[in-house]
Amino acid sequence: MTFKEKVQRFLKELQDGGTARPLGDVRQREPMSRHTTMKAGGEADLLVVPGDVEELRRTVLAAHRAGLPLIVLGGSNVIVQDGGITGVVVKLSRLNRIRLIGPDRIEAEAGVLLPRLARAAARAGLSGLEFAIGIPGTVGGSIVMNAGTREGELAPRIDSVTLMRPDGEVVTLQRNTLRFRYRHAELPQGCVVSARFALELAPAVEIEATMTRMLGARTATQPLHSPSAGCVFKNPPGDSAGRLIEAAGLKGYRIGDAQVSERHANFIINRGHARTNDILSLIRHVGREVARQFGVTLELEVKIVGRAARPKGAPRPSRLRVRPHASSTHATGSS
Ligand code: EPU
Repeated sequence: MTFKEKVQRFLKELQDGGTARPLGDVRQREPMSRHTTMKAGGEADLLVVPGDVEELRRTVLAAHRAGLPLIVLGGSNVIVQDGGITGVVVKLSRLNRIRLIGPDRIEAEAGVLLPRLARAAARAGLSGLEFAIGIPGTVGGSIVMNAGTREGELAPRIDSVTLMRPDGEVVTLQRNTLRFRYRHAELPQGCVVSARFALELAPAVEIEATMTRMLGARTATQPLHSPSAGCVFKNPPGDSAGRLIEAAGLKGYRIGDAQVSERHANFIINRGHARTNDILSLIRHVGREVARQFGVTLELEVKIVGRAARPKGAPRPSRLRVRPHASSTHATGSS
């Protein structure tokens, strides 16, 4: 099958694969700069925003049958290359329900933003997710990378994780079967659909006061008002990537519109229209300088996805725009 045929097959599968209800939000050649906190990156061949778990299942199965790769992206902690993403990008922003379960458990779907979950837990008098107040990621992405701050990480609070396997089957994994490390979770293949968190009862005012304090500290030390992907590098054992990058004299260093933040050196901010190429050149430069000056190899915390941009003058790949299949799809503007 040519790529164009695969896309047609995918769109047809989406329509035929389910009930009469059409799957609403499918976009072609969608700029990922609209869907990443870094506000950079090329186009996804297809972007789907499923309205519920059943639509997610239809999307996963349709991609599988059409032979198209599928990736779920929350948009934070990720850098999309200028050449865009081959296949299907799934955005779970509409899987956004939060539910209290019993006295000390809270359940959230994968697309819920962590600060919203932290606030919901606080209102219910549940403590343990305060640290998440300043993390701009989704529940799904934050589980996959065991997101955290110096004040805590997600892993100890996870009670169970519900995943959709590539064949569409939904499985729930209990805490004791999961392995987590610093910024990493070992999960079977599939995408996180929801998770339950085990918390502790505490007065809501105390939880809220702690969150206000943490958010204040974060705002004072991090460039939260500029587009970025969060911390670029993991902290090396016993040290801080930000401290090393500042000591290397790189605060404010700029390539194109990509700049090492003046406020926190482990952030690269987009000063306007940064190309991913510039961001990646800057990351490489920072890594090389820190290695040269201090002998420390920094490891990336952000994930880089997609294809590199075509070299200048190279012919465009024949990924022609395909008309959406009948009424099952519609193209929309920005998210
Ligand atoms: N520092 C500098 N210069 C800088 C930045 C930091 O000298 O430009 C120094 C600070 O003065 C401090 C030390 O480095 O002595 C640590 O800095 P900070 O407290 O800001 O914490 P961090 O280790 O840089 C970690 C997480 C952040 C999280 C903060 C706050 C990682 C890689 N980073 O940063 O997470 O928000 O703690 O808890 O684990 C992220 O994951 O995206 C992220 C930003």
